[in-house]
Amino acid sequence: MAKAVPRNGVLSPVPARAPWAESAIMAAVFFLLLYAAFSPVLSNPLVDKIHALQAATFLSMAFLIGSLSRFWPKLFDPLKPYRQTLGFLGAVSAVAHVFMVYVPLGWNPSGWVLVSGGFVFVLFLAMALTSNRAAVEKLGYPLWKRFHTLGYVALFLLAVHFVLAETKKGVFSLNPLETAVLALVVITLLARAAAFLAGHPMRQSYDAHFGSKRASIKKR
Ligand code: HEM
Repeated sequence: MAKAVPRNGVLSPVPARAPWAESAIMAAVFFLLLYAAFSPVLSNPLVDKIHALQAATFLSMAFLIGSLSRFWPKLFDPLKPYRQTLGFLGAVSAVAHVFMVYVPLGWNPSGWVLVSGGFVFVLFLAMALTSNRAAVEKLGYPLWKRFHTLGYVALFLLAVHFVLAETKKGVFSLNPLETAVLALVVITLLARAAAFLAGHPMRQSYDAHFGSKRASIKKR
């Protein structure tokens, strides 16, 4: 049982362990699933798609856990520590996607595909790099919170980027897997809107976002 750390006389929650190992296994399994779904014709454009779809999936899951835990805290609070790890792995997949687009593929996307992708890239990378306690202490919780709420703007732009990038010669078409991932992005945005409309209170601390353990004081 976690030992409470009294700070200024206030019992502060002990931060939950970030499930890096579990999330890395999830990322590997998800990559292999996408690989299996696309094989046997695996090629650079398809590896790029796998990274792009993995980025969209993990980033959506990181946000969706937050909204669902407002409605069903008992069910989803235990998953809150995954918000940090899935968010980070999603950003890593986005870096891999953008790298693939410019280096092995040598594409030169322009227009709104580039603008929307660029905004999403910068926002999610900055959020992944500030999803830690040190960043909250540096920025102060109110500013950190306002910045991380921008994540939903990035998620909306991701949906726009997805649709624009998959509209080729005026025809928008997705295979079932891509449809499922785009649906997850949209569901995540709708879940946040529902939490807002339901009037769920704003979170007041870093631990409320990423989870903490019930603390107990050992009887001396
Ligand atoms: C400068 C930044 C970016 C550029 C230039 C870019 C470029 C592209 C291009 C050219 C495609 C079409 C790929 C294809 O059809 O094979 C695409 C698709 C996609 N991109 Fe990006 N992208 C960027 C950032 C991002 C970021 C940050 C994310 C996610 C967080 C993302 C997620 C996606 C998704 C989900 C697709 C659709 C993949 C599919 O349908 O299978 N992109 N992007």
